[in-house]
Amino acid sequence: MTIRAVVTGAGHYLPERVVPNSEFEKSLDTSDEWIRARSGIERRHFAAEGELTSDLATKAARNALAQAGIDANQIDALVLATSTADLTFPSAATMVQANLGMTRGFAFDVQAVCAGFAYALSNANALILSGQAKRVLVIGAETFSRIMDWTDRSTCVLFGDGAGALVLEAQEGQGTPEDRGILSTDLHSDGRHRDILYVDGGVSTQTTGYLRMQGREVFRHAIEKLAATANAAMEKAGVTTDDVDWIVPHQANIRIIQGTAKKMGLPMAKVVVTVQDHGNTSAASIPLALSVASERGQIAPGDLIVTEAIGGGLAWGAVVLRW
Ligand code: ACO
Repeated sequence: MTIRAVVTGAGHYLPERVVPNSEFEKSLDTSDEWIRARSGIERRHFAAEGELTSDLATKAARNALAQAGIDANQIDALVLATSTADLTFPSAATMVQANLGMTRGFAFDVQAVCAGFAYALSNANALILSGQAKRVLVIGAETFSRIMDWTDRSTCVLFGDGAGALVLEAQEGQGTPEDRGILSTDLHSDGRHRDILYVDGGVSTQTTGYLRMQGREVFRHAIEKLAATANAAMEKAGVTTDDVDWIVPHQANIRIIQGTAKKMGLPMAKVVVTVQDHGNTSAASIPLALSVASERGQIAPGDLIVTEAIGGGLAWGAVVLRW
């Protein structure tokens, strides 16, 4: 008998305000055509004034718990991937814990920027496999609109706010790739690449800072590293591209998504794409895409899914799971 961390609920939340590309034409030397052609993004959601990352995360979590049919107090651990926590401390995860009325278990944040959800899933899986938790709520939530330099057209048009959540539960499997649940994880980071994607502020510098990115350099690393980590995760899981039903990639840029699928030898018909509607929501993008795709009826129970992401650090990774 093998223990597997199986998805039993998915949910998401997007702030009400939708901002189309045309909005940026009013204040920047940019165009809807440029943004669509270079990134695939058509619109994104921005949080309202006073709407916090923990608020978005709480709403996504409630939707995932409802789908799983359980109460927050049946959760043993809450793992929240974010780079835009409400406060320096306590963790946004403990704020969500309180919002949900969850008075037992433990909660903590994971910070791996856009790879955050892959890191959070890997942590949650380890908690379940080691027997430390039977049910884990895994959330990705971000308010990247708070760290945008609105005068920098090369970054501020690319990002959005949102949250997605999964409930993972320990279930018995056969130890084969046919099992439902997380089949493998593969994580990497390389801090030498700090300067190509970072925020130029933080607690120790006593500023909040803004996101800074050398887009072309990030792009150069992305496709190669994403395809390599996805292939490594598939090998660990004992599956091949022929077995894959869906790639659910981090939604940063349609050209990165297409390039990675091509390098993996998979057609775009097998790729879940939401970047046109959400922009890049960093750690929230994968759970958002999973929840939206499940709601659309694109992904169904039993489907084999590969998720992959890369972001600041650089940090990157992939997770193979059967829905
Ligand atoms: N509107 C119009 N022109 C623009 C804009 C804009 N919003 N932004 C940049 N430009 C200009 C540039 O100034 C440049 O002009 P120049 O040639 O006169 O100097 C020209 O467009 C081309 O700029 P490039 O940076 O070479 O454009 P590129 O084709 O590389 O596209 C982009 C830029 C979209 C940022 C691309 O490099 C990219 O997607 N990179 C990966 C970034 C990414 O995905 N980051 C997130 C991953 S990690 C994470 O999720 C945090």
